[in-house]
Amino acid sequence: MSDKDISSTLIENRQFPPAKEFTASARLKPADLKALHKHAADDYEGFWAEQARTQLHWKKPFSQILDSSRAPHYQWFNDGEMNVSYNCIDRHLDKHADKTAIIFEGEKGDVRQISYQELHDEVCQFANSLKASGIKKGDRVVIYMPMTPEAVIAMQACARIGAIHSVVFGGFSAESLRDRINDAGAVMLITADGGHRGGKIVELKAASDKAMNAGCPSIQHVLVLKRTGHDISMQDGRDIWWHDLVNDQATQCEPEWVNAEHPLFLLYTSGSTGKPKGIQHSSAGYLLNAVLTNLWVFDLQDEDTFWCTADVGWITGHTYVAYGPLAACSTIVIYEGAPTVPDYGRFWKICEDHKVSVFYTAPTAIRALMKMGDDFPNKYDLSSLRLLGTVGEPINPEAWMWYHKVIGKERCPIVDTWWQTETGAHMISPIPGAISTKPGSCTIPLPGIIADVVNDDGESITEANKGGYLVIKKPFPSMLRTVWGDDQRYIDTYFSKFGGKYYLAGDSARKDDDGYFWIMGRIDDVINVSGHRLGTMEVESALVAHPRVAEAAVVSRPHEVKGEAIVAFVICNGERPVGAEAVAMVKELREWVGEQIGAIARPDDIRFAEGLPKTRSGKIMRRLLRTIAHGEEITQDISTLENEGVVLQLQGKA
Ligand code: WT7
Repeated sequence: MSDKDISSTLIENRQFPPAKEFTASARLKPADLKALHKHAADDYEGFWAEQARTQLHWKKPFSQILDSSRAPHYQWFNDGEMNVSYNCIDRHLDKHADKTAIIFEGEKGDVRQISYQELHDEVCQFANSLKASGIKKGDRVVIYMPMTPEAVIAMQACARIGAIHSVVFGGFSAESLRDRINDAGAVMLITADGGHRGGKIVELKAASDKAMNAGCPSIQHVLVLKRTGHDISMQDGRDIWWHDLVNDQATQCEPEWVNAEHPLFLLYTSGSTGKPKGIQHSSAGYLLNAVLTNLWVFDLQDEDTFWCTADVGWITGHTYVAYGPLAACSTIVIYEGAPTVPDYGRFWKICEDHKVSVFYTAPTAIRALMKMGDDFPNKYDLSSLRLLGTVGEPINPEAWMWYHKVIGKERCPIVDTWWQTETGAHMISPIPGAISTKPGSCTIPLPGIIADVVNDDGESITEANKGGYLVIKKPFPSMLRTVWGDDQRYIDTYFSKFGGKYYLAGDSARKDDDGYFWIMGRIDDVINVSGHRLGTMEVESALVAHPRVAEAAVVSRPHEVKGEAIVAFVICNGERPVGAEAVAMVKELREWVGEQIGAIARPDDIRFAEGLPKTRSGKIMRRLLRTIAHGEEITQDISTLENEGVVLQLQGKA
């Protein structure tokens, strides 16, 4: 890609300054933000050191701040010792033992409140259980659970004993689970007899069994939470009920004091090749940006109730559910189920019932709920809300305005937060009491985050609204440390483009006259479906694994709710399926991809042809495929194609 290819079509001029009342009680006022930016600009390392000393509890203080001697493998606060779980729980017990840490609501309406003291006791009991089952510091534990407090407890318990967790989203298939377990070399799997979602039971244990049967040689034990109570099979010696294990355990467990750089977790995310990457995060650096952004961006204060709707299977559910808000001693809401049960008002009912004050969700959810009309939100009292956030993809101004008016009643600032699995925490986002927002822009980088838009030569683009590569020019504490088991991929993906100098985010962006950032899309073969990344290659590999598929190419087209939809062009072995056979084949392939990866990866459209359009050198003409998928007129030169007829087939015209 060259920056000439990136053109911007949307210029949005509306501006929304923070309300005076909001600013008056905000943690960061304009002058505070200015001081933070100045500190970071004058003394970058000193800035981060001060944040780390004031925001985290250290068992052993660090003396070294940033170690760049092995760049691009950066280390932060490396000779310090701390424990993430202690920072999220124990340090609050002096003053806030009885404060509610978690308000949980199940899909069926069951509600449970857990205080910080209770959370401490449950985390300790489970941490002791893990130890009793032989889990040691550095062991990998895969968590494949419904969105329940126990998912957070399992993560915190791993952190407490220095085990490295890897949460696999419950919507991923048995195949995806197996691949991640094997890549991580996990010795334990923690799952449940199921979860409630959309009025159905998500068969997590059945999928776990399927993964085990397909081969997970490193797993020694499978711990099973009883959530739904429906029948599952337990294998003698391997499978253990959660409740059987925790029952006799002590409610005290001395935290394992780990080095600041000790890996806290791996989280798999899609890239431009077929194989997901295990993004490895550190302990102290990760937690530092997690707690800071909860304070700065979400402005979390003592009386707030914070609901981030993300599942713990994604990075958002790590930083803004399981870790950051707890480290900030906040009260969080966890909801197990779908936003549509019993109707489209569920989110707003939860906001009313639990007096949610800070609400964070994805543009895809906002668009889906917006489509259902204003009657659902208008039925509920949303006056407890004071701040709204979005993440995952650019939010279209129409959805932004609806969120602002119908949900926020024009009173709540909206923080559009740009970040990634790899960055661990927000990078570019408004500070709600200090920065004017513009619908569709994530505004400006946070203090200490040196983000920029550069051209192919790595030079800063100074011309307003000219697109380029989004980069981060200095290492920051919460950045990924490596790709698990594939360090070369870490270097190649994130640092090779600009000679190791800058972190390459993989997004294109532009800056407007005010220096505000506008994210324009990905520069690699990654599709953003409902705020989640999927590699086109990943879906292609799943398709070609089907015995009838000879070749497949996957691209995206815009989708009004999901952001992007997956379009697959498929070449079958033997005859090209047509008519009823094609309909049946589409159904079969959609299910197949669902089984191989997970439901979110199922293509929206599948089209069959006798061949794919290729250049003379045999490269698939992806740009042409995108044009076809978008239903646009073909302007590319296709005269060199060997078989022009396939274009008509792919367009559905032959
Ligand atoms: C990619 C990261 C970070 C948690 C959710 C997704 C896109 C993320 C925004 C935003 C425009 C955004 C980018 C990014 N993205 N937030 N506010 N505006 N685009 O995490 O799966 O690691 O995906 O999501 O393309 O690179 P992820």
